[in-house]
Amino acid sequence: MENTDISRKTHWEQIYKNKSPSDVSWYLTYPGQSLKLIETMGIDKNQSIIDVGGGASVLVDYLIDAGFSRLAVLDISAQSLQHAKTRLREKANDIEWYEADITHFQPPHLFELWHDRAVFHFLTHAEDRKQYVQVLKNALIPEGHLIIATFAIDGPEKCSGLDVVRYDAPSLCAELGDEFELLEVQNENHLTPANIEQKFTYFRLRRRLVIN
Ligand SMILES: C[S@@+](CC[C@H](N)C(=O)[O-])C[C@H]1O[C@@H](n2cnc3c(N)ncnc32)[C@H](O)[C@@H]1O
Repeated sequence: MENTDISRKTHWEQIYKNKSPSDVSWYLTYPGQSLKLIETMGIDKNQSIIDVGGGASVLVDYLIDAGFSRLAVLDISAQSLQHAKTRLREKANDIEWYEADITHFQPPHLFELWHDRAVFHFLTHAEDRKQYVQVLKNALIPEGHLIIATFAIDGPEKCSGLDVVRYDAPSLCAELGDEFELLEVQNENHLTPANIEQKFTYFRLRRRLVIN
């Protein structure tokens, strides 16, 4: 399937209408790898975090429980965000929700941490990746933190029926450019609800302080 704008949104809305959030292949009951990396950064609890393509993921629940007070979740699928809001009940009122394609997102304010698990890897066209990086630069403060998790270089070639681009450290850094310094790489052998192993790689980076 071509990962173009219209088909992209339709695809993801259908996924979240037809499947329960705990049946999708990327489902995690506990997003341990992301939480560990966020803990390593030692960021303050009042710093602003955006989970890009967070969908119905429970990362935001754990971040609320950890005391983070400025959280945002963005997803192309309204249905996925509705699942998360229903689950969180009144706690959902304290979250910023954005229904948007990340390649066209206009951030209303800056963020200190950008988290993306399994979204960037769907951008199979160079132009979309360029736009993603531009949005990232518009959204993240200088010296801001970045976590991107993609399928590993020897991971699956498709996710949710869509082609993906798999990354290792050199290829991911080449996409992001010199403004981002790679600090840590972690691997995850994710077990899908159908018990199939998927290799992910998590990249932790920091935006450099650009001095003109
Ligand atoms: C594989 S799922 C990962 C969900 C979540 N990050 C997790 O780890 O559980 C990919 C998510 O990204 C969303 N998505 C896909 N393409 C997107 C885009 N261009 N902009 C924003 N969200 C997108 C999908 O709706 C879906 O929720």
